[in-house]
Amino acid sequence: MELKDRTVVVTGGAGGMGLALLERLTAMGARPVAWDIAPGAEIHCDVTDAASVDAAIKQTIAIAGVPTAMAATAGVGHHATLDDLTEAEWDRVMSINLKGPWLSMRAVAKAMQDAGEGGAIVAVTSVSAQMADRAMGAYCASKAGLEMLVKVAAHEWAERGIRVNAVGPGVTATPMLGRAPETGMTDEVVQRTPLGRLGQAGDIADAILALLQLDWVTGQIVMADGGLSLYSPIDMVGAAERKAAREAAGSA
Ligand SMILES: NC(=O)c1ccc[n+]([C@@H]2O[C@H](COP(=O)([O-])OP(=O)(O)OC[C@H]3O[C@@H](n4cnc5c(N)ncnc54)[C@H](O)[C@@H]3O)[C@@H](O)[C@H]2O)c1
Repeated sequence: MELKDRTVVVTGGAGGMGLALLERLTAMGARPVAWDIAPGAEIHCDVTDAASVDAAIKQTIAIAGVPTAMAATAGVGHHATLDDLTEAEWDRVMSINLKGPWLSMRAVAKAMQDAGEGGAIVAVTSVSAQMADRAMGAYCASKAGLEMLVKVAAHEWAERGIRVNAVGPGVTATPMLGRAPETGMTDEVVQRTPLGRLGQAGDIADAILALLQLDWVTGQIVMADGGLSLYSPIDMVGAAERKAAREAAGSA
């Protein structure tokens, strides 16, 4: 699918990845429309609220026409063990990360259908949808749910010519990281990442753009993580090398 001159909805368009995507879409001659609760978005939309999403799709069609593509990047990070997690926090994370993509993807898909057109949608999940990260239970569960939502949407909407895929970022340098780098977490992530650095917002925007344009791909989850989620600790070569290095250091 050619994105030039096409209207593209970007939820979370005022955030790190959403903004990087907006810049790329504008540079390639597309017409992005950002939906976000943060200042700077063209349309103020709370994706957890059906009435707000309904108003946003109507406004989008009025100012830019029916969207041909959409990226659901709006989301929120969260940190608490299962023991400490409150019911209100669970509901908030699920609402933004799982209900929000459902409401917003459904609204855009309906607009495409009403116009008799197909299109492409990409949601942003996470490596944490597939890896069990401590103290991230609500977040992991919300993103695992989103993976399945994407697959069911791909199946249900295929007959309407709408493709639905997901990009799963690894740790990516955006405002969502907050103060996490101070814990040393990001240094450890870089150590574990085969491509040897943190992701940048533009890396994820590029993966979203690629999936939007792959006409024969639907229902797929593509990890954009530099290989962070690629391997297990079963590493005989590395273990032997590290053991030899420790022994050499010990005998020096
Ligand atoms: N940064 C990372 O390391 C990382 C890793 C894996 C997945 N992700 C996912 O990537 C996506 C983009 O995150 P980011 O890193 O750009 O973070 P970000 O915080 O910079 O951007 C997220 C955006 O979503 C918006 N948003 C939050 N709640 C909303 C709501 N109810 N309605 C509308 N908009 C809302 C925020 O205002 C913000 O602009 C998220 O879904 C996140 O879970 C991020």
